[in-house]
Amino acid sequence: MLPCILLLSGCLLYPAAASSAPPNILLIFADDLGYGDLGCYGHPTSHTPNLDRLAARGLRFTDFYSTGAVCSPSRAGLLTGRFQTRSGVYPGVFYPSSVGGLPLGEVTIAEMLQARGYVTAMAGKWHLGLGANGTYLPTRQGFQHFLGVPYSHDQGPCQNLTCFPPNTRCYGTCDLGETLLPVFLDEKIVQQPVNFPGLVPLYEQFSKEFIHKAVSEGKPFFLYYASHHTHYPQFASARYTGHSLRRKYGDALLELDGTVGELVTSVWDMGVQNNTLIIFTSDNGPETMRKERGGSSGLLKCGKSTTYEGGVREPAIMYWEGKIKPGVTNMLASTLDILPTVAALAGATLPNVTLDGYDLSKLLLNGEKSPRNTFYYYPPSIDPTRGIFALRMGKYKAHFYTQGAFHSETTPDPDCHITALLTEHNPPLLFDLDTDPAENYNLLKPVIPKELEPVVNEIQNERQRFLKSMTYAESEINKGKDPSLRPCCNPQCTPKPSCCHC
Ligand SMILES: *[C@@H]1O[C@H](CO)[C@@H](O)[C@H](O)[C@H]1NC(C)=O
Ligand SMILES: *[C@@H]1O[C@H](CO)[C@@H](O)[C@H](O)[C@H]1NC(C)=O
Ligand SMILES: *[C@@H]1O[C@H](CO)[C@@H](O)[C@H](O)[C@H]1NC(C)=O
Ligand SMILES: *[C@@H]1O[C@H](CO)[C@@H](O)[C@H](O)[C@H]1NC(C)=O
Repeated sequence: MLPCILLLSGCLLYPAAASSAPPNILLIFADDLGYGDLGCYGHPTSHTPNLDRLAARGLRFTDFYSTGAVCSPSRAGLLTGRFQTRSGVYPGVFYPSSVGGLPLGEVTIAEMLQARGYVTAMAGKWHLGLGANGTYLPTRQGFQHFLGVPYSHDQGPCQNLTCFPPNTRCYGTCDLGETLLPVFLDEKIVQQPVNFPGLVPLYEQFSKEFIHKAVSEGKPFFLYYASHHTHYPQFASARYTGHSLRRKYGDALLELDGTVGELVTSVWDMGVQNNTLIIFTSDNGPETMRKERGGSSGLLKCGKSTTYEGGVREPAIMYWEGKIKPGVTNMLASTLDILPTVAALAGATLPNVTLDGYDLSKLLLNGEKSPRNTFYYYPPSIDPTRGIFALRMGKYKAHFYTQGAFHSETTPDPDCHITALLTEHNPPLLFDLDTDPAENYNLLKPVIPKELEPVVNEIQNERQRFLKSMTYAESEINKGKDPSLRPCCNPQCTPKPSCCHC
């Protein structure tokens, strides 16, 4: 923490430049958080006062989509403004020993903003590759500073994390056994194994110091805070443990909400709330297979790893004091749109590549209609011969393929389960998401009503157009694994990985 004097001078110096300076961007990304998990999205027993306040003072989206139903692809889509097909971040996710990563040629939001004079940092979960000697770390993708874990926190031994009652192992399977989980500061391992309950306080301190320093130096900042909450296994620091009606899951969510409060307070303390856009959303739907320790997609169908609404429709809030009119919007939007929107607001140069996102700045600042009218749903295991599983056009969503998933087990709906095998639908299943967001009533059964024939044709044409326009990069995830790439804080030690303990 910087001394008060410095903070004050930062507060005094900054407003003079504020009106012409590009806005600071604070992007907070949750993990496996479902559409129904927040108080402001209707959960009866979640306690999320900071997120609820952000929603009340900002714009809350009801129809906001992530590009992927699992972590790595959805993060690739968020940071590049492009479907993961273009960067090769499919099928599935990266592992600690994965050879591939988000290709360095991809331009991330951080790289784009750095070129515009921003200082950039990331705290939290990366999950876009590690590679030999940190080839794919955030520091190689435009983030000047990084503090975090390069993949999911269940991709290592779970230690004593969710052992409740004490001395029992983790609930469910979470021990990949590849190597103890590391914390990186930039490109150096500073902790292995991770002290889980201490993680969020570390991230918060790092983030606050970054904000303070940037503002004090009069530089616009981009902070990407990618929380591991509320990904399984659930845990929280002492401050939040045992305080939630939702128990383990609720404690983790409470800590995530607490972080949002800390970061927003930091922005206000520095006096830059009028020049800071805060975006909150999540990577994909909930892991209902964790039962009460997984999230909730609320009224939406299924969860993580599926192309039903519960897999990819996410809570999303955009808040900019005095600039974005508070309210709720039913306009279509996506994580893909964040890069072009931020580029417009910051006056940054767009990457010279095919983008899949739209500039939403006029929606945010003037309440204009969203330029987005379609959304395309890719499953986690993308196969170019099948392409998208579903397509949304306006209020209509058509499913060409459906498939259940392990991650979406345990709720009573059998369509969500792993036993619901890949099924092609021709004609597609068609739902009106305005009247039927739960995808209960197929409009094309038992026959296609005459008045819907033009809709079905239009959707089929759009599907063909989209698939023709798509290019599929070679899969980075299929490049496989190399055990020697497992991160180790003590590289010469034996036997690995157990000796990687510092
Ligand atoms: C990683 O860096 C070390 C030291 O610079 C070097 O000896 C090694 O060959 C590098 N490994 C790879 C796979 O590039
Ligand atoms: C797990 O708990 C056991 C028993 O309390 C303790 O000896 C061990 O050090 C703990 N392991 C970790 C990684 O915290
Ligand atoms: C923010 O904007 C409001 C309204 O325009 C103004 O009253 C307030 O002084 C501004 N705050 C700062 C810290 O610039
Ligand atoms: C953008 O990329 C295309 C194709 O790679 C290239 O021909 C063109 O010159 C580039 N434009 C700019 C402004 O860099």
